[in-house]
Amino acid sequence: MALVLIMVGLPARGKTYMARKIARYLQWHGHQARVFNVGNYRRQRLGAQQPHSFFDPDNPEGLTARKALARAALDDVCQWLAEGGEVAIYDATNITRARRGWVQEAIERAGHEPVFLESICNDAQLIASNVRQTKLRSPDYLDTTADEAIRDFNARIQHYERCYETVDNPTSAVIRITDAGKQVEARNIEGHLVTRIVFFLMNLQIEPRRLFFLRHGESLFNVSGQLGGDSALSPRGVAFAARLPQLLQERLGDVTPEVWTSSLQRTQQTAAHLPYPSRAWKALDEIEAGACDGMTYEEVAAQFPDEFAARAADKLNYRYPRGESYRDVMKRLDPVILELERASHPVVVIAHNAVIRCLQAWFTGCALAEAPHLEVPLHTIFEVTPIAYGVEEKRWA
Ligand code: SIN
Repeated sequence: MALVLIMVGLPARGKTYMARKIARYLQWHGHQARVFNVGNYRRQRLGAQQPHSFFDPDNPEGLTARKALARAALDDVCQWLAEGGEVAIYDATNITRARRGWVQEAIERAGHEPVFLESICNDAQLIASNVRQTKLRSPDYLDTTADEAIRDFNARIQHYERCYETVDNPTSAVIRITDAGKQVEARNIEGHLVTRIVFFLMNLQIEPRRLFFLRHGESLFNVSGQLGGDSALSPRGVAFAARLPQLLQERLGDVTPEVWTSSLQRTQQTAAHLPYPSRAWKALDEIEAGACDGMTYEEVAAQFPDEFAARAADKLNYRYPRGESYRDVMKRLDPVILELERASHPVVVIAHNAVIRCLQAWFTGCALAEAPHLEVPLHTIFEVTPIAYGVEEKRWA
C-alpha cells in the first residue's frame, strides 16, 4: 500500500515548501517520492496569470475548472502509484471537507493510505514574508508589479478563507503544522515512513540562516593523491587554516557561528584558529574507501580494475569494498541535515569532498546522481542561504 500525503491549507502557508522538502528527504533515503502540484496543472493547462476572481468560490466557471485540475492531478497520483511510486504528495489547498472527502475516497479506492498534512499559520508577518518570497517570484505574477501582485494574491487568500474548514474528522490520519513548525501534532498516525515524516517536519523551519561549507585545507594525502586516511595538513593547507578566520570574519562580522568538523585531523587543523565554538561529528567523516583506503586512483585502477570501472559507471551507488557509497554517506548525514534544517544561527561546516558534495546536493535539490560529480575545489568557501524554493549560493576562494 502506497502513501499519499494530502496537503491542506490556505495559500502562502508553506505547503509547497514542505511538500518539496519531504519529497527530497524521502528520495534522499532511497524512496520513490513525488510532488503533484495542482497550481502547476493550472499554469500548464490554463495559463499562469489567472486573476484572483478565478479562485472566488462564487465563480462557477472557476470552480468547475479548478475541480477538473484537481481531478487531473489526482488521476496522475493514482497512475504514478500504480506504476510503483511509493509516496505521492498531493499539493493543493484542499480546504473544504467536500474536496477532501472525494480526494480521500479516490485514494482509498485505489488501495492507498491517505494522510492529511495541514499547515495553519496565523502569524501575519510570516504570511507576508512567505508571499514576498514565493509569490512575487511565481510565474503567476511574472509581468505584474510587486504591489499589484501582493494585492491580487491577498484577494485570492480571502476567497479561500471564506470557505476554509479545518481537518476535524476524528478518524482521519492527520499531521498538523502550526506557524511554520512551532507546533507539530500528529493524530491516527502509524507506520515507519509517516512517523519519519513527522520527525522530519519537527526539524523543518523557514527562518533565514547562513551556512558555510568548505573542505579542509590541503592535506598530505591530497598532495600524494592518496584516498582516505587521516593525514595532517600540507604547508599550503596550514596557510589556508591561518587565513580562514579572516575570510569568515569578512562575511560574518561580529556574528558568531558554530563550527562543525569531522572527526579527522585535517578538518580539525583547518578549524584550529577559528575563534568560534566547534563540534566534531563522525557523521562528517570522508567517504570510507575501505580496501582502497590509502591508495591512489592509479593504484585502484591497476589493482581493482573492475571496481574502478563500476565506480565510473555509477558513482552514486558504487560502494568501495568494505567501504561506503555516496548513498551510504547521504544516509549517515541524516542527523547533520536535520540539525542544519533546524539551525537558526550560522553554521560553518568543514568537512571532505564527498560530504560537502552531498550537503550541497541536499540544499540545491539537484538530481542525486549529480551529487558525486559536483565541483568542490579546495580552499573555496561555499555560502548557502536556503530560500523558499531553493538556495542562493555564493562561493569565494
Ligand atoms: C492553484 O491553482 O494555485 C491552487 C489550486 C488549489 O489547490 O486550490
